[in-house]
Amino acid sequence: MKTLILARPLLLTVALVFVQFLVATTCHADREKFFDSSGKLIVVEKSAAELLRPYEIKNRKSEKTFPVPRPPFSEGIFPCSQCHSGMTPNPQRRVLTDYHTEIVLHHAEGQRWCTDCHNLLDRDKLRLVSGELIDFSESYLLCGQCHGDKFRDWKVGVHGKRTGDWNGDKQYLLCVHCHNPHDPKFKSLKPMPPPQRPGEAKH
Ligand code: HEC
Ligand code: HEC
Ligand code: HEC
Ligand code: HEC
Repeated sequence: MKTLILARPLLLTVALVFVQFLVATTCHADREKFFDSSGKLIVVEKSAAELLRPYEIKNRKSEKTFPVPRPPFSEGIFPCSQCHSGMTPNPQRRVLTDYHTEIVLHHAEGQRWCTDCHNLLDRDKLRLVSGELIDFSESYLLCGQCHGDKFRDWKVGVHGKRTGDWNGDKQYLLCVHCHNPHDPKFKSLKPMPPPQRPGEAKH
């Protein structure tokens, strides 16, 4: 009996420490936790504004890559280098007359040109403002430079379309599966050409 009375405060302490441990390990996104030099747990409340780090492309942590289906290229256009590796790159802003005549830029076109997004020397790559070259399967990084809010929503599945198990592998549609990168405002991507019958003459 006596030992039980003595043990009671001890049990209580153990229980309290356990509860404290639970609280400390349940991560709150709005709190920063660390141990000071004496080993004491310090919890600092952060306001929402403090948690929102300013978007700086050059300080960007390398994004994880997202599984995406094949980029929606027109038949036969990729790799671009099949033509461009033998051509002299022309960074001049102009109306294209020899090829790509269907591409007319209506996307903040006053501020930029093709080669702000397409790398001038290696046409098989896209280019970020930092100068970093990315693959077409990562074009969301390009869009995310200016449409940071939509990019954030896309990553968590609020904007765009994500398929797969809720807790398993997911596949994301690229921004360009839904938006024409050259003319996003007025119409969606042009429909794919119909499949060619085997044996049919190629243009
Ligand atoms: C806002 C960035 C941006 C600008 C500016 C831009 N492009 Fe693109 N372009 C893209 C992206 C992203 C794709 C990839 C689409 C895809 O994955 O199918 C693309 C695709 C293409 C394609 C392949 C189209 C197809 O039918 O599959 C060609 C050709 C092209 N761009 C040429 C140009 C030319 C020429 C210009 C300038 C008149 C230009 N682009 C301006 C981002 C841009
Ligand atoms: C069948 C050949 C061919 C393919 C494939 C091709 N291009 Fe082109 N591209 C051309 C020609 C020809 C021009 C020059 C058009 C003009 O000056 O009127 C051009 C011009 C461009 C330009 C303007 C800048 C420059 O150097 O003249 C961009 C940007 C461009 N192409 C991007 C692409 C991209 C991106 C792809 C792949 C998705 C691609 N091209 C695939 C033939 C091609
Ligand atoms: C350099 C900055 C920049 C980049 C990179 C960029 N955009 Fe834009 N985007 C703009 C601006 C500015 C506008 C509004 C003005 C306009 O449409 O001309 C716009 C407009 C849009 C709109 C239309 C919004 C409306 O008013 O309906 C869509 C959709 C869009 N962008 C998608 C994309 C996609 C997809 C990509 C990647 C291929 C991309 N943007 C890359 C700057 C950018
Ligand atoms: C599954 C198709 C789909 C995908 C993928 C998608 N979008 Fe959209 N997006 C839409 C539709 C539909 C709208 C118009 C309705 C709306 O505002 O939500 C839209 C609207 C927008 C607008 C204009 C919003 C406004 O405020 O006027 C921008 C900018 C945009 N998307 C950028 C992006 C970017 C950047 C990505 C990739 C990170 C992306 N979208 C991926 C379908 C898509």
